[in-house]
Amino acid sequence: MNDDVTLPDSLLTFLPCRTPAAWVSEALQHERLLLIDHAQCEKKAASTAMNLMFRYVDHPDLLTSMSQLAREELLHFEQVVKLMRQRNIDYEHIGASRYAEGLRQHMRREEPGRLIDLLIIGAFIEARSCERFAALIPHLDHELARFYRALVKSEGRHFEDYLALAEQYAAAPIEQRVQFFAECERQLIESEDQEFRFHSGVPVHA
Ligand SMILES: [Fe+2]
Ligand SMILES: [Fe+2]
Repeated sequence: MNDDVTLPDSLLTFLPCRTPAAWVSEALQHERLLLIDHAQCEKKAASTAMNLMFRYVDHPDLLTSMSQLAREELLHFEQVVKLMRQRNIDYEHIGASRYAEGLRQHMRREEPGRLIDLLIIGAFIEARSCERFAALIPHLDHELARFYRALVKSEGRHFEDYLALAEQYAAAPIEQRVQFFAECERQLIESEDQEFRFHSGVPVHA
């Protein structure tokens, strides 16, 4: 069995930091929570893509890209739910982590800044998910590792789709804005977090 997963250089350069080892060990002890929140994330990824399709109907490239993305994320969602059923994990309601909201609170309210920020945030969420799948793979059972390897391939493209759209629709270079969100992202990943989730920070036990 080959558990090695190579993340694209572009993804590693894009993300401000690697997932802390403490998060990986926590995840391995909370498979149930990990999978439930993973299912939630796939559903939210589809819903984020569809919200963009409703709001920005006059952006044809966005419509095509986000429609494809939404379908792919829903497929991932079905795959996670299937795996949960096979493992007798009940899908129950759990609260969202602070992560996505922690990024979105900085979103500009005026267009086109709002769209550009949403796309950049989308890129970070996709890239981080991909990096976390890769971090988990060497420690997982064969079946889950195989599933996550397939997801790494797909999420690795998603972050680039988001970034390409952000570049396309921005009136000016987006580099500074990307750097700003990279710093917010690093803070969310590297600071302590009491609640374990797929995108949570460094676990602390009260
Ligand atoms: Fe996905
Ligand atoms: Fe994705």
